[in-house]
Amino acid sequence: MTEPVLILGATSAIARHVAAAFARRGHTLFLAARDAREVERAASDLRIRFGVRVESGEFDAEDYEEGHAEFLRRVVERVGEPHGVVLAFGYLGEQELAERDFDESGRIIGRNFAGAVSVLNLCAERLAAQRGGFVIGISSVAGDVGRQSNYLYGASKAGLNVYLQGLRNRLFHAGVRVLTVKPGFVDTPMTYGMPRLFLVAAPEEVGEGIVRALERGRNVVYLPWFWRYVMLALRLVPEGLRKRLKL
Ligand SMILES: NC(=O)c1ccc[n+]([C@@H]2O[C@H](COP(=O)([O-])OP(=O)(O)OC[C@H]3O[C@@H](n4cnc5c(N)ncnc54)[C@H](OP(=O)(O)O)[C@@H]3O)[C@@H](O)[C@H]2O)c1
Repeated sequence: MTEPVLILGATSAIARHVAAAFARRGHTLFLAARDAREVERAASDLRIRFGVRVESGEFDAEDYEEGHAEFLRRVVERVGEPHGVVLAFGYLGEQELAERDFDESGRIIGRNFAGAVSVLNLCAERLAAQRGGFVIGISSVAGDVGRQSNYLYGASKAGLNVYLQGLRNRLFHAGVRVLTVKPGFVDTPMTYGMPRLFLVAAPEEVGEGIVRALERGRNVVYLPWFWRYVMLALRLVPEGLRKRLKL
């Protein structure tokens, strides 16, 4: 089992543990991120720890269309056609700034949604032509319910959820699996220093959980598992009451 897996946003704390979980299982990896030096350091670490082939390269989620097509051509030249793609990049942004500054809203939408669509459209074509493989999209529980504290980020992840759901439906007929991952709070640079966090998970636990969910053939997974019920409870709060709460 050495088929290549492409990790997009590979310097993310969660992505590093997903990459380690695939390396542990013997996969060749291509790690892609904006910071070419840091992602090469991550690649080197995995080569040493797991003795697998790991390549790295520069990737920007906002380098839409031709930029992404060119990037994928380079990946294929280096490791061959990826059998799996893990979309891990994401941008939380600042909700209050995004409310008054469209540049910040644009960054949130551009990275979490438009960037994901641009690169996954291209990956989907390649996977469908191979008639096999998988896509893992790391979304968020924030996409389940709009809340005043992060509805720009939540809306971008909600868009990603529906995109991944449609893609799963389409690619099922080509034998390609699509897994949507909805983590709750995870202890990573994205949440560092945030007040009032609860039920915070370790990125190691989430990384391994993502690969296990793929192996179990899941379509959607909440990580850790109890977030499914936290979000269900939140969705059951009537809108008339929810809008009065400062969530
Ligand atoms: N941490 C949580 O509590 C949590 C909860 C739910 C979902 N998630 C999701 O989990 C995923 C991983 O996040 P994380 O928690 O591991 O946070 P993280 O360590 O802060 O990682 C975020 C990653 O996204 C990359 N990124 C941002 N903009 C990019 C762009 N334009 N092009 C390419 N890469 C870009 C960052 O690269 P740079 O280093 O270059 O900025 C970084 O590697 C994200 O999709 C996030 O939304 C996280």
